Amino acid sequence: MKRLDLGAVTAPPGAIPDSMLAVTIRREREGEPRDAMKLEEVPVPGIGPDEVLVLVMAAGVNFNGVWAARGRPVSVFDMHHEPFHIAGSDAAGIVWKVGESVTRWKPGDEVVVHCNQSCGQCPECNGLDPMACERQKIWGYETSWGSFAQLAKVQAQQLVHKPRQLGWAEAASYGLTYFTAYRMLVDRAEMKPGDNVLVWGAGGGLGSFAVQLCKLVGANPIAVVSSPERERLVRELGASMVIDRTGFDFTRGPQVSRAFGARIRELTGGKDADIVFEHVGKQTFPTSVLVAKRFGKIVICGATSGYDLDFDVRYLWMRQKTIIGSHFANAYEAERANRLVIEGKIRPVLDQVFPLHRAAEAHQLVADNRHKGKIAILVQAAA
Ligand SMILES: NC(=O)c1ccc[n+]([C@@H]2O[C@H](COP(=O)([O-])OP(=O)(O)OC[C@H]3O[C@@H](n4cnc5c(N)ncnc54)[C@H](OP(=O)(O)O)[C@@H]3O)[C@@H](O)[C@H]2O)c1
Repeated sequence: MKRLDLGAVTAPPGAIPDSMLAVTIRREREGEPRDAMKLEEVPVPGIGPDEVLVLVMAAGVNFNGVWAARGRPVSVFDMHHEPFHIAGSDAAGIVWKVGESVTRWKPGDEVVVHCNQSCGQCPECNGLDPMACERQKIWGYETSWGSFAQLAKVQAQQLVHKPRQLGWAEAASYGLTYFTAYRMLVDRAEMKPGDNVLVWGAGGGLGSFAVQLCKLVGANPIAVVSSPERERLVRELGASMVIDRTGFDFTRGPQVSRAFGARIRELTGGKDADIVFEHVGKQTFPTSVLVAKRFGKIVICGATSGYDLDFDVRYLWMRQKTIIGSHFANAYEAERANRLVIEGKIRPVLDQVFPLHRAAEAHQLVADNRHKGKIAILVQAAA
């Protein structure tokens, strides 16, 4: 068989074509997603004993695709040695072929893919946390063969069951951001009922799940947004305390951060934030450290606006606050978090769906901060 037709499943599980369609980035094209990402025909990857080839029904767009396209702050070609990069760290699909040691999954199973890869053999993988593995990598960012392709190569431990009530696009849209938000709030920051949680970018990928997790455990999200459309979304998700950040020019220094802190106290009835959910970085971090309450926690997993942070450390030590780094999630967290989607307690927030040949355009929307919630790309799914 030369190739599978896009938008349909016409061959039985296990039928391996000679080549496949994929959206690739090449080093010489690195730049804005609209120029860097192109649809190409590439070879189908082989799999090792613990690996699985997944027929991608739909793929989810994430900010790491934007980083990969731009080649900044690091080029993906300095992280792996493939001649091209297939981005995509979220997928929902059908198990197509399993390696000889795989016993948990079989061809035909419907799955969602989580994006953490690790060696599976070291003491950290087996006793501490696979996220502590020296060889830990984010699939589809630090490795190639990600989800913007007809077939994706993953480790068997990356699979969780697809929630039956969701369509393919919805199922492909939540893994990376939701599992990251789950680890940040539930395991790293140990969020408790009654906590006031400041959520930056509450209408974005991570934030829309952070708001839902707060509501589920009985914490109080204080949702920060920059448009009425995103305000509507976060209120729909259950946030009753919302701040429009466009009224605060944080570049003007600590008096603006203090005014922002006063706004938080107005909403909470005089309380500061027990937890600050951070991923914006340079432009918000000084404010996050200032507005966390005494003994409060700032949990951070990213830095959209810049990673060289400059903040007044006196507020950190005098008020005994803690900064917690967090990165994606391990397989156990992904499984636990996924169960909440299966049970209908957390829902994906899918904003738009594009066909595979428009993946570059979809990433450009995210690069330009013109989306809300998540965007999915249909690959083998027709609708
Ligand atoms: N380490 C990990 O495992 C991990 C996992 C997921 C994501 N991340 C990183 O986390 C970041 C966010 O990811 P995402 O998927 O949530 O992206 P997203 O969907 O683009 O959402 C980010 C939100 O941040 C807000 N924002 C953007 N610029 C801002 C600024 N200058 N000041 C204040 N708010 C700003 C925007 O909301 P408003 O404009 O409405 O305020 C936007 O909706 C990215 O850098 C991503 O790479 C890391």
